[in-house]
Amino acid sequence: MDMVNRYRRLRTSQTLRKMVRETRIDKSSLVYPAFVAEGIREKEEIPSMPGQYRHTIDSMLRLTEELLEKGVSKMVLFGIPLEKDEYGCQAYAQNGIVQQTMHEIKRRLPEMYLIGDVCMCEYTSHGHCGILDGQYVDNDKTLTYLAKTAVSQAQAGADMVAPSDMMDGRVAAIRQALDENGLQLTPIMSYAVKYASAFYGPFRDAADSAPAFGDRKTYQMDYHNVREGVKEALADIEEGADIIMVKPAMAFGDVIARVKEVTNVPMAAYSVSGEYSMVKAAARQGWIDEDRIVCEMAASCFRAGADIYLSYYAPELARFIDEGAIG
Ligand code: PBG
Repeated sequence: MDMVNRYRRLRTSQTLRKMVRETRIDKSSLVYPAFVAEGIREKEEIPSMPGQYRHTIDSMLRLTEELLEKGVSKMVLFGIPLEKDEYGCQAYAQNGIVQQTMHEIKRRLPEMYLIGDVCMCEYTSHGHCGILDGQYVDNDKTLTYLAKTAVSQAQAGADMVAPSDMMDGRVAAIRQALDENGLQLTPIMSYAVKYASAFYGPFRDAADSAPAFGDRKTYQMDYHNVREGVKEALADIEEGADIIMVKPAMAFGDVIARVKEVTNVPMAAYSVSGEYSMVKAAARQGWIDEDRIVCEMAASCFRAGADIYLSYYAPELARFIDEGAIG
Protein backbone atom coordinates (compact mmCIF):
# COMPACT_ATOMS: atom_id res chain seq x y z
CA MET A 1 0.00 0.00 0.00
CA ASP A 2 1.41 3.37 -1.03
CA MET A 3 0.75 5.70 1.91
CA VAL A 4 2.80 8.74 2.88
CA ASN A 5 1.05 9.44 6.15
CA ARG A 6 1.02 6.63 8.63
CA TYR A 7 -0.23 8.04 11.92
CA ARG A 8 0.63 4.86 13.76
CA ARG A 9 4.31 5.63 13.11
CA LEU A 10 4.41 7.93 16.17
CA ARG A 11 2.63 5.40 18.34
CA THR A 12 5.05 2.51 18.08
CA SER A 13 6.67 2.84 21.51
CA GLN A 14 6.02 4.44 24.87
CA THR A 15 9.20 6.50 24.42
CA LEU A 16 7.95 7.96 21.18
CA ARG A 17 4.40 8.43 22.41
CA LYS A 18 5.73 10.40 25.35
CA MET A 19 7.99 12.46 23.13
CA VAL A 20 5.11 13.68 21.00
CA ARG A 21 2.64 14.12 23.83
CA GLU A 22 0.65 17.36 23.63
CA THR A 23 -0.28 17.65 27.28
CA ARG A 24 2.31 17.57 30.08
CA ILE A 25 1.26 17.11 33.65
CA ASP A 26 3.33 18.05 36.63
CA LYS A 27 2.87 17.53 40.35
CA SER A 28 3.23 21.26 40.92
CA SER A 29 -0.24 21.72 39.35
CA LEU A 30 -2.04 19.52 41.86
CA VAL A 31 -4.18 20.80 44.73
CA TYR A 32 -5.73 18.53 47.34
CA PRO A 33 -9.06 19.56 48.94
CA ALA A 34 -9.37 18.64 52.63
CA PHE A 35 -11.94 19.01 55.39
CA VAL A 36 -11.25 19.88 58.99
CA ALA A 37 -14.00 19.55 61.59
CA GLU A 38 -14.37 21.09 64.99
CA GLY A 39 -15.32 18.99 67.99
CA ILE A 40 -14.29 15.54 66.82
CA ARG A 41 -11.66 13.45 68.60
CA GLU A 42 -10.52 11.38 65.68
CA LYS A 43 -10.76 11.73 61.94
CA GLU A 44 -14.03 10.42 60.52
CA GLU A 45 -14.42 8.83 57.13
CA ILE A 46 -17.01 10.58 54.95
CA PRO A 47 -19.57 7.88 54.11
CA SER A 48 -20.26 9.09 50.58
CA MET A 49 -16.55 9.68 49.86
CA PRO A 50 -14.68 6.52 50.89
CA GLY A 51 -11.02 7.32 51.54
CA GLN A 52 -11.77 10.98 52.38
CA TYR A 53 -12.07 12.25 55.93
CA ARG A 54 -13.28 14.98 58.20
CA HIS A 55 -9.99 15.70 59.93
CA THR A 56 -8.98 16.88 63.35
CA ILE A 57 -6.17 19.42 63.49
CA ASP A 58 -3.80 16.61 64.49
CA SER A 59 -4.82 14.26 61.68
CA MET A 60 -4.62 17.19 59.28
CA LEU A 61 -1.01 17.76 60.31
CA ARG A 62 -0.22 14.10 59.65
CA LEU A 63 -2.00 14.29 56.31
CA THR A 64 -0.06 17.43 55.41
CA GLU A 65 3.19 15.62 56.08
CA GLU A 66 2.14 12.69 53.91
CA LEU A 67 1.07 14.96 51.08
CA LEU A 68 4.38 16.79 51.14
CA GLU A 69 6.23 13.47 51.03
CA LYS A 70 4.25 12.53 47.94
CA GLY A 71 4.98 15.85 46.27
CA VAL A 72 1.56 17.44 46.71
CA SER A 73 2.37 20.85 48.14
CA LYS A 74 -0.94 22.69 47.81
CA MET A 75 -4.14 22.19 49.76
CA VAL A 76 -7.50 23.90 49.79
CA LEU A 77 -9.11 23.81 53.21
CA PHE A 78 -12.79 23.55 54.13
CA GLY A 79 -14.00 23.96 57.70
CA ILE A 80 -16.87 22.28 59.48
CA PRO A 81 -17.71 24.23 62.64
CA LEU A 82 -19.47 22.87 65.69
CA GLU A 83 -21.95 25.74 65.77
CA LYS A 84 -23.68 27.09 62.69
CA ASP A 85 -25.71 30.29 62.80
CA GLU A 86 -27.54 32.65 60.48
CA TYR A 87 -24.48 34.82 59.90
CA GLY A 88 -21.91 32.05 59.66
CA CYS A 89 -19.82 33.60 62.46
CA GLN A 90 -17.34 30.72 62.53
CA ALA A 91 -16.31 31.46 58.96
CA TYR A 92 -14.48 34.61 60.07
CA ALA A 93 -13.80 33.86 63.75
CA GLN A 94 -10.17 34.38 64.61
CA ASN A 95 -10.18 31.00 66.36
CA GLY A 96 -12.42 29.32 63.77
CA ILE A 97 -11.50 25.74 62.92
CA VAL A 98 -9.96 26.64 59.57
CA GLN A 99 -8.03 29.55 61.04
CA GLN A 100 -6.64 27.37 63.84
CA THR A 101 -5.69 24.65 61.39
CA MET A 102 -3.94 27.07 59.06
CA HIS A 103 -2.04 28.54 61.95
CA GLU A 104 -0.84 25.11 63.09
CA ILE A 105 0.11 23.90 59.62
CA LYS A 106 2.06 27.07 58.91
CA ARG A 107 3.83 26.80 62.27
CA ARG A 108 4.91 23.19 61.73
CA LEU A 109 4.94 22.62 57.98
CA PRO A 110 5.28 25.99 56.28
CA GLU A 111 6.19 24.35 52.94
CA MET A 112 2.54 23.43 52.44
CA TYR A 113 0.84 26.10 50.32
CA LEU A 114 -2.54 26.80 51.92
CA ILE A 115 -5.59 27.95 50.03
CA GLY A 116 -8.64 29.00 52.03
CA ASP A 117 -12.05 28.27 50.57
CA VAL A 118 -14.08 31.42 51.22
CA CYS A 119 -17.79 30.71 51.51
CA MET A 120 -20.56 30.80 54.08
CA CYS A 121 -22.42 27.56 53.38
CA GLU A 122 -20.43 25.34 55.74
CA TYR A 123 -21.00 27.90 58.50
CA THR A 124 -24.60 29.03 58.14
CA SER A 125 -27.49 27.27 59.88
CA HIS A 126 -29.54 27.50 56.66
CA GLY A 127 -26.72 26.15 54.47
CA HIS A 128 -26.82 28.95 51.90
CA CYS A 129 -23.64 30.60 50.68
CA GLY A 130 -24.56 34.03 52.02
CA ILE A 131 -26.61 36.10 54.41
CA LEU A 132 -30.37 35.81 53.99
CA ASP A 133 -32.96 38.46 53.42
CA GLY A 134 -36.08 36.37 53.88
CA GLN A 135 -35.61 33.44 51.52
CA TYR A 136 -33.25 35.31 49.21
CA VAL A 137 -29.48 35.47 49.62
CA ASP A 138 -28.61 39.15 50.00
CA ASN A 139 -25.69 39.73 47.65
CA ASP A 140 -24.25 42.99 48.92
CA LYS A 141 -24.63 42.22 52.58
CA THR A 142 -22.82 38.92 52.05
CA LEU A 143 -19.79 40.67 50.55
CA THR A 144 -18.84 42.16 53.91
CA TYR A 145 -18.75 38.71 55.51
CA LEU A 146 -16.84 37.11 52.66
CA ALA A 147 -14.24 39.87 52.87
CA LYS A 148 -13.92 39.35 56.63
CA THR A 149 -13.53 35.61 56.08
CA ALA A 150 -10.80 36.07 53.47
CA VAL A 151 -8.86 38.49 55.68
CA SER A 152 -9.13 36.23 58.73
CA GLN A 153 -7.87 33.24 56.74
CA ALA A 154 -4.95 35.19 55.30
CA GLN A 155 -4.07 36.46 58.77
CA ALA A 156 -4.19 32.89 60.07
CA GLY A 157 -1.72 31.71 57.44
CA ALA A 158 -3.57 31.18 54.16
CA ASP A 159 -1.22 31.79 51.24
CA MET A 160 -4.17 32.29 48.89
CA VAL A 161 -7.92 32.71 49.20
CA ALA A 162 -10.53 31.13 46.97
CA PRO A 163 -14.07 32.54 47.06
CA SER A 164 -16.61 29.88 46.06
CA ASP A 165 -19.87 31.63 46.95
CA MET A 166 -20.77 33.11 43.52
CA MET A 167 -21.95 36.48 44.85
CA ASP A 168 -21.49 39.35 42.40
CA GLY A 169 -18.64 41.71 43.19
CA ARG A 170 -16.98 39.48 45.73
CA VAL A 171 -13.56 39.48 44.14
CA ALA A 172 -13.42 43.27 44.25
CA ALA A 173 -14.68 43.32 47.85
CA ILE A 174 -12.13 40.72 48.95
CA ARG A 175 -9.27 42.41 47.08
CA GLN A 176 -10.05 45.72 48.74
CA ALA A 177 -10.28 44.19 52.21
CA LEU A 178 -7.03 42.25 51.78
CA ASP A 179 -5.24 45.38 50.58
CA GLU A 180 -6.57 47.48 53.45
CA ASN A 181 -5.10 44.92 55.81
CA GLY A 182 -1.67 44.95 54.26
CA LEU A 183 -2.24 41.68 52.40
CA GLN A 184 -1.55 43.01 48.91
CA LEU A 185 0.42 39.90 48.00
CA THR A 186 -2.26 37.37 48.89
CA PRO A 187 -3.61 36.10 45.56
CA ILE A 188 -7.27 35.41 44.88
CA MET A 189 -8.24 32.25 43.04
CA SER A 190 -11.86 32.84 42.13
CA TYR A 191 -14.34 30.04 41.60
CA ALA A 192 -15.42 32.23 38.71
CA VAL A 193 -17.34 29.73 36.64
CA LYS A 194 -19.20 27.60 39.13
CA TYR A 195 -22.32 25.78 38.10
CA ALA A 196 -25.29 24.74 40.24
CA SER A 197 -24.45 21.06 40.10
CA ALA A 198 -25.57 17.72 41.46
CA PHE A 199 -21.88 16.76 41.37
CA TYR A 200 -21.46 18.55 44.73
CA GLY A 201 -23.75 16.08 46.49
CA PRO A 202 -21.15 14.18 48.51
CA PHE A 203 -19.41 17.43 49.56
CA ARG A 204 -22.62 18.68 51.13
CA ASP A 205 -22.80 15.43 52.99
CA ALA A 206 -19.21 15.88 54.13
CA ALA A 207 -19.65 19.47 55.23
CA ASP A 208 -23.26 19.13 56.33
CA SER A 209 -23.92 22.15 54.13
CA ALA A 210 -26.94 21.24 52.02
CA PRO A 211 -29.30 24.23 51.89
CA ALA A 212 -32.15 23.86 54.39
CA PHE A 213 -34.60 25.17 51.78
CA GLY A 214 -34.48 25.90 48.06
CA ASP A 215 -31.30 25.44 46.06
CA ARG A 216 -28.28 27.43 44.91
CA LYS A 217 -29.64 28.31 41.49
CA THR A 218 -30.08 32.00 42.28
CA TYR A 219 -26.32 32.38 42.60
CA GLN A 220 -24.56 29.39 41.00
CA MET A 221 -24.74 29.13 37.22
CA ASP A 222 -27.16 27.27 34.98
CA TYR A 223 -25.28 24.39 33.36
CA HIS A 224 -26.88 25.04 30.00
CA ASN A 225 -24.73 28.16 29.62
CA VAL A 226 -21.19 28.68 28.43
CA ARG A 227 -21.12 32.30 27.24
CA GLU A 228 -22.25 33.25 30.70
CA GLY A 229 -19.19 31.42 32.03
CA VAL A 230 -16.98 33.56 29.83
CA LYS A 231 -18.74 36.65 31.17
CA GLU A 232 -18.20 35.56 34.78
CA ALA A 233 -14.53 34.78 34.19
CA LEU A 234 -13.81 38.11 32.49
CA ALA A 235 -15.67 40.02 35.19
CA ASP A 236 -13.69 38.35 37.96
CA ILE A 237 -10.40 39.08 36.23
CA GLU A 238 -11.44 42.71 35.92
CA GLU A 239 -12.18 42.75 39.65
CA GLY A 240 -8.71 41.44 40.41
CA ALA A 241 -8.85 37.65 40.35
CA ASP A 242 -5.32 36.28 39.92
CA ILE A 243 -6.51 32.79 39.01
CA ILE A 244 -9.91 31.68 37.79
CA MET A 245 -11.57 28.32 38.21
CA VAL A 246 -14.11 26.24 36.37
CA LYS A 247 -16.14 23.81 38.45
CA PRO A 248 -17.13 20.96 38.18
CA ALA A 249 -14.52 19.54 35.80
CA MET A 250 -15.94 16.35 34.33
CA ALA A 251 -18.83 17.20 31.99
CA PHE A 252 -17.53 20.78 31.70
CA GLY A 253 -14.51 20.33 29.43
CA ASP A 254 -16.04 22.59 26.79
CA VAL A 255 -16.34 25.35 29.37
CA ILE A 256 -12.70 24.98 30.40
CA ALA A 257 -11.65 25.23 26.76
CA ARG A 258 -13.85 28.22 25.97
CA VAL A 259 -12.82 30.19 29.04
CA LYS A 260 -9.16 29.43 28.38
CA GLU A 261 -9.39 30.88 24.89
CA VAL A 262 -10.54 34.30 26.03
CA THR A 263 -8.58 34.78 29.25
CA ASN A 264 -4.93 35.31 30.07
CA VAL A 265 -4.65 34.37 33.74
CA PRO A 266 -3.89 30.88 35.06
CA MET A 267 -6.93 28.64 35.12
CA ALA A 268 -7.91 25.89 37.53
CA ALA A 269 -10.38 23.04 37.13
CA TYR A 270 -11.96 21.40 40.17
CA SER A 271 -12.83 17.73 39.93
CA VAL A 272 -15.49 17.74 42.61
CA SER A 273 -16.81 15.34 45.20
CA GLY A 274 -19.40 13.67 42.97
CA GLU A 275 -16.76 12.88 40.38
CA TYR A 276 -14.62 11.25 43.06
CA SER A 277 -17.51 9.27 44.54
CA MET A 278 -18.71 8.02 41.17
CA VAL A 279 -15.28 6.69 40.30
CA LYS A 280 -14.86 5.14 43.76
CA ALA A 281 -18.24 3.45 43.64
CA ALA A 282 -17.73 1.97 40.20
CA ALA A 283 -14.21 0.89 41.08
CA ARG A 284 -15.41 -0.87 44.23
CA GLN A 285 -17.84 -2.82 42.11
CA GLY A 286 -14.95 -3.83 39.90
CA TRP A 287 -16.58 -2.20 36.90
CA ILE A 288 -13.79 0.20 35.96
CA ASP A 289 -10.04 0.51 36.33
CA GLU A 290 -9.87 3.28 38.94
CA ASP A 291 -6.25 4.31 38.35
CA ARG A 292 -6.61 4.64 34.61
CA ILE A 293 -9.92 6.48 34.87
CA VAL A 294 -8.39 8.96 37.32
CA CYS A 295 -5.52 9.61 34.92
CA GLU A 296 -7.85 10.15 31.98
CA MET A 297 -10.05 12.52 33.91
CA ALA A 298 -7.08 14.60 35.01
CA ALA A 299 -5.51 14.65 31.56
CA SER A 300 -8.80 15.76 30.00
CA CYS A 301 -8.77 18.91 32.11
CA PHE A 302 -5.17 19.80 31.32
CA ARG A 303 -5.82 19.04 27.65
CA ALA A 304 -8.81 21.39 27.73
CA GLY A 305 -6.53 24.11 29.06
CA ALA A 306 -6.42 23.92 32.84
CA ASP A 307 -3.12 24.90 34.44
CA ILE A 308 -4.11 23.79 37.93
CA TYR A 309 -6.13 20.74 38.96
CA LEU A 310 -7.99 20.35 42.25
CA SER A 311 -8.79 16.75 43.01
CA TYR A 312 -9.42 14.38 45.91
CA TYR A 313 -7.20 12.04 43.90
CA ALA A 314 -4.22 14.43 44.02
CA PRO A 315 -2.03 12.07 46.13
CA GLU A 316 -2.74 9.15 43.79
CA LEU A 317 -2.10 11.34 40.76
CA ALA A 318 1.26 12.35 42.21
CA ARG A 319 2.13 8.66 42.42
CA PHE A 320 0.92 8.01 38.88
CA ILE A 321 3.13 10.86 37.68
CA ASP A 322 6.12 9.36 39.57
CA GLU A 323 5.40 5.97 38.06
CA GLY A 324 5.08 7.42 34.57
CA ALA A 325 1.49 6.31 34.13
CA ILE A 326 0.57 9.91 33.37
CA GLY A 327 2.54 13.09 32.88
C1 PBG B 1 -18.69 25.91 49.00
C2 PBG B 1 -18.14 24.87 48.13
C3 PBG B 1 -18.76 23.74 47.61
C4 PBG B 1 -17.79 23.02 46.93
C5 PBG B 1 -16.61 23.75 47.02
N1 PBG B 1 -16.86 24.90 47.75
C6 PBG B 1 -20.16 23.24 47.77
C7 PBG B 1 -21.26 23.88 47.08
O1 PBG B 1 -21.15 24.89 46.38
O2 PBG B 1 -22.37 23.39 47.31
C8 PBG B 1 -17.98 21.71 46.24
C9 PBG B 1 -16.77 20.86 46.17
C10 PBG B 1 -17.04 19.44 45.87
O3 PBG B 1 -18.16 19.02 45.59
O4 PBG B 1 -16.05 18.70 45.91
N2 PBG B 1 -19.65 26.71 48.41
